[in-house]
Amino acid sequence: MNQGALACRAAGLSTAFPAPHFPSELDADVIAFDSGFAYPKVLPELSQFAINALSAHREESLQYAPPQGSPELRDWIAGYMNADGCQVSADHILIAGGAKHGIDLICRLLLDEGDSLVVTAPTYFTCIPIFRSFGAHVLEVGHDAEGLRVDELAALFNRLKAAGTALPKFVYNVVDFHNPTGATMTLARREALVELCAREGVFIVEDNPYRRVRFTGEAVPTLKALDRDDTVIHVGTFSKLIAPGLRIGWVAAHPELIARMMQLKSDGGACPFTQRIIYDFCRSGAFEAHVTKVQAVYREHRDRMLTAVRRWLPTAAIDEPDGGYYLWLDFPPGFDGDAFAAEAAARKVNILAGSRFFAGPGGGYPRNRGPAANSVRLSYSYETLQRIDEGVERLARIYAKMAA
Ligand SMILES: Cc1ncc(COP(=O)(O)O)c(C=O)c1O
Repeated sequence: MNQGALACRAAGLSTAFPAPHFPSELDADVIAFDSGFAYPKVLPELSQFAINALSAHREESLQYAPPQGSPELRDWIAGYMNADGCQVSADHILIAGGAKHGIDLICRLLLDEGDSLVVTAPTYFTCIPIFRSFGAHVLEVGHDAEGLRVDELAALFNRLKAAGTALPKFVYNVVDFHNPTGATMTLARREALVELCAREGVFIVEDNPYRRVRFTGEAVPTLKALDRDDTVIHVGTFSKLIAPGLRIGWVAAHPELIARMMQLKSDGGACPFTQRIIYDFCRSGAFEAHVTKVQAVYREHRDRMLTAVRRWLPTAAIDEPDGGYYLWLDFPPGFDGDAFAAEAAARKVNILAGSRFFAGPGGGYPRNRGPAANSVRLSYSYETLQRIDEGVERLARIYAKMAA
C-alpha cells in the first residue's frame, strides 16, 4: 500500500480499529457510562411515521433531496428556534446529518490550514479530531461553573493582537449542560461572549444538543437569541430529543453562509426519508409530549446517579447539572483518572477519563491543575436505574482499591 500518498490529516491516524464500545457490540454485563447513548425505552414509536413517509410521501422519501434540506422541516425548525427567542427563517437553516456533520461543514466554511479556533478546557472531545483534521490550531480557554471564561478569551485575543497574530476563526462552545462538565453558562457571560466576538469579528459556534433536556431552573437565552450581528452559528440536533440513529441535525446562520455551506456539502442532501419522519413527528404534536417524557426520564437517571455517587464515591466533587446527560467527577488531586477508567473498563464499567476532554494542556477548570488528570465523566443516559446503582457500586470498589 502506498503510504506516501496519504494526506497529512490521514497519515498520522491510528490504523487500529477501536475497541467495542457501542451497546450493541458489548457483552450484556458491561455497563455503559461512557457515551451519550439514548435510553432505549425513551426512543419514540415511529413506525407509523415511517410507513407514511414510504407511502404518502414515497417519491420524496426515496428521491434525492434538496441540499439545504426539506423546506417544511427547515420552516418547522425556524419556528422552533423563534419560539426560543431567535429571529430566523427557513433560509437560515441547513439540514445536516447530525450536529457533528454540521460542525464539519462549519469547519469547511471557515478554516484554512494554520488557522486557529478556541475551545473550552475541557470541551466535547469528539470535536477535537474534527478541528485538527482541518490543520487548525486548537486554543483553550478556561471553563468554570458559570461557563466559558470570557475574561480569559478577551486576554487571549489581546495577546494575539499584541503579537500580530491573526485572531481565531471561531469560538466553539456548548452553553447549555456543557459536555463534559454539565455546567450552564450564565446570561452575563453569554452577553459578554457575544459582545466580545461581535466586536472582534470572531464567529461563535454554539453547539446546543441538550437545550431542551432541562430538568431544573429557568432556560437562559441561547447565544443565537442574543446575536444581533450574525456572529453566532448555531448547531442543533434531533439526536437527544428524538433519536440519534436518525442522524438529522441543523446549522442556523446567515443565509449567505448557508448558501456557501450547501455547496461544500458532498452528501447530496440529508436523507429525505428520515427528514419526513422527523417533520411529521414534530408537527403531529407528539414531539412536545415526547420532550416532556425525555426530560422526566433523564431527570430520574440524573437523580439516581447523583444519589449513588454521593453515597458510594463521596470523595468525588460534583456540580449538580440542571440538565443534559453527564456527571463530571473530580477526585482529590493526585488521583489518576486515566488509570481509573482503564481499571473500570477491565471490570466492565465503561467511563471516560477527564483527560480525553482537553485539546491542550488544560488547567482552566477550577479544581484541576493539568489536563483534569483526577477527573472522569459518567453518562447517566443509557443505563437502567438498577444498572446505574450497580455501575457506581462497581466503580466504588475499584476506587477503594486504587485509593488504598
Ligand atoms: C456537545 C455535543 N455536540 C454534538 C453531539 C452529537 O450530536 P449528533 O448526534 O447530532 O451528531 C453531542 C452528542 O453527544 C454532544 O454532546
